[in-house]
Amino acid sequence: MSAAPAPHVVRQQITVHWDFPVAFTHHLFAPENPLLRDTLQRLGEARKHRAMVFLDSHVANARPTLSEDILAYFKAHADHLELALSPQLVPGGEASKNDFSLVEGFMRLLLENRMDRQSYVLIIGGGAVMDSVGLAAALVHRGLRQIRVPTTVLGQNDAGVGVKNAVNFLGGKNAIGTFAPPFAVLNDFQFLASLGSRDWLCGVAEAFKVAIIRDEPFFEWLCQNAALFPARNFEAMQYLVQRCAELHLEHIRTNGDPFEYGRARPLDFGHWSAHKLELLSQFRISHGEAVASGVLLDSIYAHSQNWISAAQLEAIARGLQQSGFQLWFEELDARSPDGQRLVFAGLRDFQEHLGGELCVTFPAGIGSRHEVNEIDLARMESAIQELRKRVHPGS
Ligand SMILES: NC(=O)c1ccc[n+]([C@@H]2O[C@H](COP(=O)([O-])OP(=O)(O)OC[C@H]3O[C@@H](n4cnc5c(N)ncnc54)[C@H](O)[C@@H]3O)[C@@H](O)[C@H]2O)c1
Ligand SMILES: [Zn+2]
Repeated sequence: MSAAPAPHVVRQQITVHWDFPVAFTHHLFAPENPLLRDTLQRLGEARKHRAMVFLDSHVANARPTLSEDILAYFKAHADHLELALSPQLVPGGEASKNDFSLVEGFMRLLLENRMDRQSYVLIIGGGAVMDSVGLAAALVHRGLRQIRVPTTVLGQNDAGVGVKNAVNFLGGKNAIGTFAPPFAVLNDFQFLASLGSRDWLCGVAEAFKVAIIRDEPFFEWLCQNAALFPARNFEAMQYLVQRCAELHLEHIRTNGDPFEYGRARPLDFGHWSAHKLELLSQFRISHGEAVASGVLLDSIYAHSQNWISAAQLEAIARGLQQSGFQLWFEELDARSPDGQRLVFAGLRDFQEHLGGELCVTFPAGIGSRHEVNEIDLARMESAIQELRKRVHPGS
């Protein structure tokens, strides 16, 4: 047999540059606040900027004048801005990610209103609404300009500042989505005032997560100020949100893998069990609550492997407890009929999501991290039991 001819291969290499602002402000829709207008104009294009606004229903309930305020803002800046339609309500919370027909509905609205690739989709809401509308905005015409206005602590310090979106599908958390960096992120601290106590705290878990693996001084600040968070100290929360958002941005900017082609996902420290807890509880446990528990669980495991000291583990546990987190959930104990701990399936889900070998991030001391490809399940079993005992000493 003659040798196959050498293939003709053209090597294609493309570099795509992304550059978007993440701004922090107050009263974004006050007509005298130029931030939104200037953001839509930031490319210097001489034309009217067309936008559609999607609004989390619970934000709309909490701020009954918001739709009117948005209409008034666009009217005040009518020389430069144009609203394609009055603000559209989106069911708030995880419900918006659990029903793909909602995403279809958003896409239909965007197409029916002739939104093009230079139009803006303003998404005002929690992380869930940003994910579901963000996915629709990323799919229509292969991507419209997306302006995120996150309204929760977790949205402002984590979900809103990233470069991806996803919805739940076929029972899988975040099973389908895209990488789609936003055109801009506009964080208005005033939105946080109307959060219920659970959602006020959820983003604090992500702050502990990122501080433990990236920033020791921030971790110490979190521990020193932990009691201020459940007391709803606004100043402390603003600092937490801004610093945590900066750390997330810095990580995505510098880690060399913004679209997660590799297996390591350090920002998912504490998340393998968290995602499973959310699913096992049918989302009764929110993302942030599950992350707080997952961070402590993986810290207990890290201590059992001597990756962090006993004092460091105590500081993490105390910080999370003083922040007001519940930390133990009965779902951690749930078992299949053959006695397998259901939460362990979270490791398999995690591996499937990323592909290839398992890769889980753990702290290595405070402020740095390392990745492991294997979890010692017997040790993790002990870590779960220790977590239960810490929270319920009598059990
Ligand atoms: N795409 C990403 O990179 C990324 C990253 C982290 C988390 N997430 C996702 O984000 C979601 C969690 O986000 P979340 O913690 O913001 O929860 P959420 O979006 O479910 O919001 C929590 C609740 O607060 C309501 N709400 C939002 N803003 C409010 C306000 N200002 N006042 C009163 N109520 C308000 C919401 O309607 C909802 O009921 C999860 O689905 C998670 O998977 C995505
Ligand atoms: Zn998270």
